[in-house]
Amino acid sequence: MATLLHIDSSVFPTEASSSRAVTEAFRTHWQEQHPEGTVVYRDLAAQPVPHINAAAHTAGFVDPASHTPEQAAAFAERVRLIEELEQADAVLIGAPMYNFSIPSTLKAWVDNVILIGRTAGETQSAKGTPVTIVASRGGAYGPGTPREGYEYVQNYLTAALADGLGLDVDFIVPELTMAPQNPAMAELIPLYEASRDRAFEEAAAKAKQLAERLAA
Ligand SMILES: Cc1cc2nc3c(=O)[nH]c(=O)nc-3n(C[C@H](O)[C@H](O)[C@H](O)COP(=O)(O)O)c2cc1C
Repeated sequence: MATLLHIDSSVFPTEASSSRAVTEAFRTHWQEQHPEGTVVYRDLAAQPVPHINAAAHTAGFVDPASHTPEQAAAFAERVRLIEELEQADAVLIGAPMYNFSIPSTLKAWVDNVILIGRTAGETQSAKGTPVTIVASRGGAYGPGTPREGYEYVQNYLTAALADGLGLDVDFIVPELTMAPQNPAMAELIPLYEASRDRAFEEAAAKAKQLAERLAA
């Protein structure tokens, strides 16, 4: 039975969040394909994970038997998050663009799960796990757009999760989501609507493809 690790990081509730709406659609299609499957859910906005501090970082480089109480507690939290990732057959992440990059709560999760010698480096304990990332953004940052160089969500998550952890990263990108609220973007509303519709179609198609791939 397949396990999906579903992580959201938008500060908004589902009815006001582009990324949560699409991750929820993906998850619903996933569950239709895997009625017996398990979904492990993490809402990083509601329950943030700790930021990496010196104890949590240094604990990864010394024998656990020599951990101080502070290192042991911080490391146990990291291992809990790492095991969740390692045990997942697939991962779904809502990663809205906040000031050109990912929410700090999601960055904290990434910092916890990148552990040289286990998830990263030569071993890459979650290597090959498929990860679908819903990268919503108020503007547009695709190739050829004026703001292409300000795109630090897909660029960063590809570096950290695909290159760093060896995960099989795929993106769904609902863009121009600010168009309905921003009068200066009024003429972009049709493009926003097309992007939103495409994101929901991709969520359905990718959840189904993933189910078939994991069943094969
Ligand atoms: C704190 C904050 C910062 C944002 N910064 C950007 C930005 O740099 N570029 C952009 O295109 N949109 C930006 N936006 C708009 C969001 O990317 C957009 O509303 C997106 O749909 C967010 O996804 P969500 O609704 O799931 O949170 C920002 C929104 C917030 C709340």
